[in-house]
Formats: sequence, C-alpha cells, structure tokens
Amino acid sequence: MNASALELRELVKHYRGGEETVRAVDGVSLRIEPGELVALYGPSGSGKSTLLMLVAALLAPDSGSVMFGGRDVARLSSRQAAEYRRREVGLVSQEFHLIPGASALDNAMIKLPVLGASLKQARARTIPWLERVGLGARVTHTPERLSMGERQRVTIARALVAEPRLLLADEPTGSLDSKRTGEILALLRDLCREREMPGLLVTHDSDAVSFVDRVHTLRDGRLYEVPSTAEARLAATAG
Ligand SMILES: Nc1ncnc2c1ncn2[C@@H]1O[C@H](COP(=O)(O)OP(=O)(O)OP(=O)(O)O)[C@@H](O)[C@H]1O
Ligand SMILES: [Mg+2]
Repeated sequence: MNASALELRELVKHYRGGEETVRAVDGVSLRIEPGELVALYGPSGSGKSTLLMLVAALLAPDSGSVMFGGRDVARLSSRQAAEYRRREVGLVSQEFHLIPGASALDNAMIKLPVLGASLKQARARTIPWLERVGLGARVTHTPERLSMGERQRVTIARALVAEPRLLLADEPTGSLDSKRTGEILALLRDLCREREMPGLLVTHDSDAVSFVDRVHTLRDGRLYEVPSTAEARLAATAG
C-alpha cells in the first residue's frame, strides 16, 4: 500500500441528549500529508477526542468525510472499520486499557496474533518496540508493577507494533516527565517521517510544538490553524 494523506472534509458530530446539543465537532476540514505530524490543542471539552474517534472510525460522523487510502473511512461497515483499525491505524487512546495481570510484552503485542502472527513472532516483533519506548528492562512487568508513565509507554508500543499507516495519539505524553515527553514526541515524529504516515497528536504540552510540523487548535468544535510557534505555545498554555 502506498503512503496516503489523511483528509477530513467538513466533519460534523453533535451529541444530542436532554436539553442541549453538544456541537463537539462542527465543520472540521484538515489535510495531513504523508510524513507530517500535526498537533491539536484545545481546552477540555473542545472536541479533540471526538475528532480522533471519528478518524479512527470508532464513531460515525453526522456528516462529512474522513478520506484515507482512497476511501471514506466514515462509510465503512463495522467489520471493515475494525479491519481498518487493526491494519492501518496506530491509536494511542487517552485511556490505557491495559490488561491487569498480563506482562508489558503481552499487553503491547496484543494486536499481532489477531493479524496472523504466531506468539513467538509476536514477541520477537514487540520487544524492539518496548526497547524503543525505554521499557527494555520492564517487559515481564504487569501493569500493576509499572509507573503511570511506564504504562503509558506500553500503550505507545502497542499502537506501533502492527506498523500502522496512520498515527492517532490522544495525550500520549500526559503521564510522562519532560525528558520522556521529548523522547516520545521525537519518536512519534520520526516514525511519521520514516513510514510516510500522517499523524495527528492531541496534546496539552506546549513543548510539543517544537516536535511537530503544524499546530491547530479546536474551540467549540471548530478548527483554527495556529500560525506561529509563539502563538501555539500561548494556545497550549491557555488550553
Ligand atoms: N458520548 C457522549 N455523549 C454526549 N456528549 C459527549 C459524549 N462524548 C463527549 N461529549 C461531549 O462533547 C464535548 C467534546 O468532548 P471530547 O471528549 O471530544 O473533548 P476533549 O477535547 O477530548 O476534552 P479533554 O481535553 O477533556 O479530553 C464535551 O462537551 C463532552 O462533554
Ligand atoms: Mg479528550
């Protein structure tokens, strides 16, 4: 499969319930080229996770499209959407969803047997990713024996083991200190470049600006491009 851009066209997702309608995503258009990593800032509740879930086809939009790999992933059947997530998307979600009692290795490799790898192959492919996120000495530790930052790094390795074509990360450095944050952001940026995959990164970290190609902010479901690094830092601090 050739490298593909990600293109969101006039995406809309409103949550209706009770008295009010929440306009979580309200007409968002955005194109991310292969190899490009884009940061998305915005205050809590501005629609960032909703936008990521639309791109991951975990949620269907009210209208608009999510073009990737020559088709609109918002129009996939639920089976096709699951296949798209397994084979094409590296998703680092805001919640860790690690299996208690299972080692960091087993947690990180979970996608691979489903994709046809033997357990032995899955382990051999996953260990280098755990090493790359700095967990080479923790592969046998269960989540209970890992710090929050280490758990977060397991989720990052888990998103990468199946060699995705598209990277989506929701606050992937929320539990990391500034040194690890820099390392992980540099890793995500380099991976986007190496694999020529588009990346969309939700973050509150103003340091992220120096690792990404472009910065956008979401406010009340609407997207704005932040023209300069200084303004991006301000937007991040305000968020
Ligand atoms: N399933 C849902 N039903 C109704 N409203 C929802 C639902 N999910 C999210 N919302 C609302 O939609 C808005 C956007 O939520 P979203 O989770 O996308 O925000 P966010 O930018 O990711 O916030 P945070 O920075 O706190 O993670 C919020 O006002 C939220 O309360
Ligand atoms: Mg969120």
